[in-house]
Amino acid sequence: MNQYEIALIPGDGVGKEVIPAGLRVLHAAGELTDGFRLKTTDFAWGCEFYIQHGRMMDDDALRQLAAFDAIYLGAVGYPGVPDHVSLWGLLLPIRQSFDQYINLRPIRLLEGIAGPLRDKGPSEIDFIVVRENSEGEYSGHGGRSHRGRAQEVATQTTVFTRAGVERVMRYAFELARARGSNSDRPLVSATKSNAQQYASVFWDEVCADVAAEYKDVTWRSMLVDALAAFMVLRPERLDVVVASNLFGDILTDLGGALQGSLGLPASANLNPERRYPSMFEPVHGSAPDIAGRGIANPLASIWAGAMMLDHLGEREAAGLTLRALELVVAGGRVRTPDLGGTSTTDEVANAVIEELKRKT
Ligand code: NAI
Ligand code: MG
Repeated sequence: MNQYEIALIPGDGVGKEVIPAGLRVLHAAGELTDGFRLKTTDFAWGCEFYIQHGRMMDDDALRQLAAFDAIYLGAVGYPGVPDHVSLWGLLLPIRQSFDQYINLRPIRLLEGIAGPLRDKGPSEIDFIVVRENSEGEYSGHGGRSHRGRAQEVATQTTVFTRAGVERVMRYAFELARARGSNSDRPLVSATKSNAQQYASVFWDEVCADVAAEYKDVTWRSMLVDALAAFMVLRPERLDVVVASNLFGDILTDLGGALQGSLGLPASANLNPERRYPSMFEPVHGSAPDIAGRGIANPLASIWAGAMMLDHLGEREAAGLTLRALELVVAGGRVRTPDLGGTSTTDEVANAVIEELKRKT
């Protein structure tokens, strides 16, 4: 029996509601398939912890987390604590120290959800964004001087390294190969090489170098502004999109909107070499406007949990969990208010478990 050590960081607001709900589904998947067990440890880090202790997590948090097989995270950030404090105090240190250089974001419109695009249904919106998660525009290089004076200056430097771009490209090409990307739905690399003649041209060159190792994978490069429009007008032509940190950040929010509710999109922060734990999370934040009422949609967390199972090697359970989630959404009966229903967080999680029981 496989057993995995999972670090739970529910975080703030609805994170504390959706992570326990998601976890119940994952435990059920382990028991019903009789394939694995999850041994969890709870870490009460986040903004409440910050208000009590003046820091977002323990001083040796990264050392504590390093021993786990994966991290299952809710959301961090709450009114009263500035967002740059919560982000740089918890999420970014974890992503950076554990070299989680791939941020994976499936963009799928599920059967039964009315997305915002009038003419595009589930078969037209089904792609995945591979976002570079460790350098680029968010590498933290830059500075400010002459504060408050007329000549005040601020710089924020984009840093691309050959090793950094190569590894994200390789991941994207492997994924495109596995998904069977083709000339109708090629791998697309987001660039801005018309305006950014150094960084983006370098990105394109490394992309072409890596592409030479994947002659069977059809790919093209697209200017990121045109790609944003393309995601709305022709999403059915997309399969795998690879993008830098900033471009990927923006494109994935647009992608999330195509999914119909923030209660659905999930993401994985991966260290593909598995030298460190990877981290799985819903895309949404702590939703202070609905926190504490038991009505947050747990599906994004369940989806993130399925991605975690997949990463741990529990392919069958991951597939069944995602399928059960899809059936609950398609059934339309059990839905939280963000999807137009009246069900609670726990009722939705229970419905997914019921579907799992039917499938196993
Ligand atoms: P948010 O994602 O928390 O909420 C945006 C809207 O979506 C709200 O109306 C909320 O009710 C709704 N929503 C979000 N998750 C939902 C769910 N599971 N079910 C139903 N409705 C849901 O974004 P917002 O309000 O901009 O940020 C709130 C806090 O969360 C901030 O402190 C922000 O920094 C933090 N945040 C943290 C993230 C993370 O930990 N990865 C990501 C985004 C925001
Ligand atoms: Mg974002």
